[in-house]
This record gives sequence, structure tokens and C-alpha cells, in this order.
Amino acid sequence: MKNGMNDPAGRTAERLRAAHRVLALTGAGISAESGIPTFRGKEGWWRKEDPTRLATQAAFDRDPAYVWEWYQYRRGLVREAEPNPGHQALADLERAGKEVLVATQNVDDLHERAGSRNVAHIHGSIWRVRCERCRRESHDPTHPFPTLPPRCQHCQGLLRPAVVWFGEMLAHEPIIRIENFISGGVDVALVIGTEAVFGYIQGFAMAARRAGALLVEVNPGQTPLSDAADVRLQGPAGAVLPRLVG
Ligand code: OAD
Repeated sequence: MKNGMNDPAGRTAERLRAAHRVLALTGAGISAESGIPTFRGKEGWWRKEDPTRLATQAAFDRDPAYVWEWYQYRRGLVREAEPNPGHQALADLERAGKEVLVATQNVDDLHERAGSRNVAHIHGSIWRVRCERCRRESHDPTHPFPTLPPRCQHCQGLLRPAVVWFGEMLAHEPIIRIENFISGGVDVALVIGTEAVFGYIQGFAMAARRAGALLVEVNPGQTPLSDAADVRLQGPAGAVLPRLVG
């Protein structure tokens, strides 16, 4: 790989080699090469399904079994999927001694399975459930559930996926972790495989840039953040990221 200012990948690789603190903001695109569909892409969920029927509290109240069928199907996909070279490259950065925070919108666990240890799940985890009645939340890897919707073992209330649905507040814990990380300084911020439709995702990227980061977008397409990026690497994460880290 060439180095120098005219070679964006080389410039990024150089900055990464020198970096102490790296923020990776990831979205569905990083897991696409592991066989997990995105939301807004060509084969994305929201091209064929109505989000208000699957990812809102109102949809769940109306038909919890229907919503659970979709989550159960996706839990099966995630369980069968393997981390790809994109996930591995981020874990390699951490293994190389960098302080890395992976701030992901993904509800899968492929970053953790690749070896990343500092992962903030902005939209929750597909493996966590929360009781609608007693509010207990827990990790529950049962697959498949014997009946849908599953019930709370403590109070028999309805369990819902502990993920963030449209119209809901984000959980505080991951947000505070991301904000604290950014305020400690960031050398490189990688925005990978996200359409960046939410203001808070754009906000984290811009805050990292203000905190000193080289803002790098890894995405085969164009997003609302593309124009603000210092470097755009247009390709699939599984091909681009290993070349930056290797
Ligand atoms: P999207 O499906 O909106 O966007 C996926 C992005 O990944 C697009 O910009 C693609 O161009 C890019 N992409 C596709 N394949 C890629 C690859 N191999 N490597 C790199 N990039 C690739 O997914 P998100 O931005 O993650 O939230 O969506 C954000 C949120 O919207 C999701 O967490 C979900 C959804 O509604 C909720 O359900 C609350």
C-alpha cells in the first residue's frame, strides 16, 4: 500500500499506527459481510418491511408474537453468523495496544465475538430481554423460545427485546461512555457501515472531529456524513479495514 497525502488509505493507516485513542462508530454495514441484512440497503429490512409494524412499542402492544417472530428470526441469523475481517480488524487495533471504543448501533454481538472488549451498544442487544411488568432486564440466549412471546420467569409478564425502538429514549449508559471517551480526546474516528440517519450518530462523529480526530468514513455509498469526513474510503468494511490495520 502506498503512503502519503494523496493516498487516503495510506494516510489513514499512518494516522492509525500513531494513534492512541480510536473511536469506531459502526452500523449494519459492518455486519453485512457476515450475512446479516442491513436496514436501508438494497436488501435492507426497511425496503420490504414497515418499521412501525416491527420496531415500535405500539407494534409490540398490538401483536407481540409477530414482533417476536422477527426478532427470533434475527437471533437465529446472528447466532449462525461469524465475525468478518472488518470486525476482526477493529479487535486487532485493540490487541495492538490502542484504546478503542466501538460504539455500535448494531444489536448483534459480532464485535465482542471478534475480540473487541470495549463495545457500547447504542441500540441495545438482541440477546437481552426486559419484562414489561416487573422491568427486570437480563441476558437471555434461549433460541428458539418454546413459545412466543416469551414470558418472565419471575412474574409471568411479557418479555420484550431490550433494544431501542423508534420513538424511544436511548439508554444512558452507552451514551455516557461514548461522550466520556470523546472528551478524553480521539486521534482517529472511523465511521463504518452506517447510513448515519440519526442526529446523535452525526453528533458523535463531529464531536470526535472537534476533539482532534481524523474523521474517516468507510462505506461503499454516500451518507449525510460523507462531506464532513476528512477521508472517505469507499468499499466494503471487510476489505478496507484489514488494509488499514494490517
Ligand atoms: P443502514 O441499513 O441504514 O445503513 C447501512 C450502511 O452500510 C449503508 O450506508 C451502506 O452503504 C453501508 N454498507 C453496506 N454494506 C457495507 C459493507 N460491506 N461495508 C461497509 N458499509 C456497508 O444501517 P444503520 O445506519 O446501522 O435502528 O441503521 C441505523 C439504525 O436504523 C439501526 O440500528 C436500526 C435501523 O432502524 C433501530 O432499529 C432503532
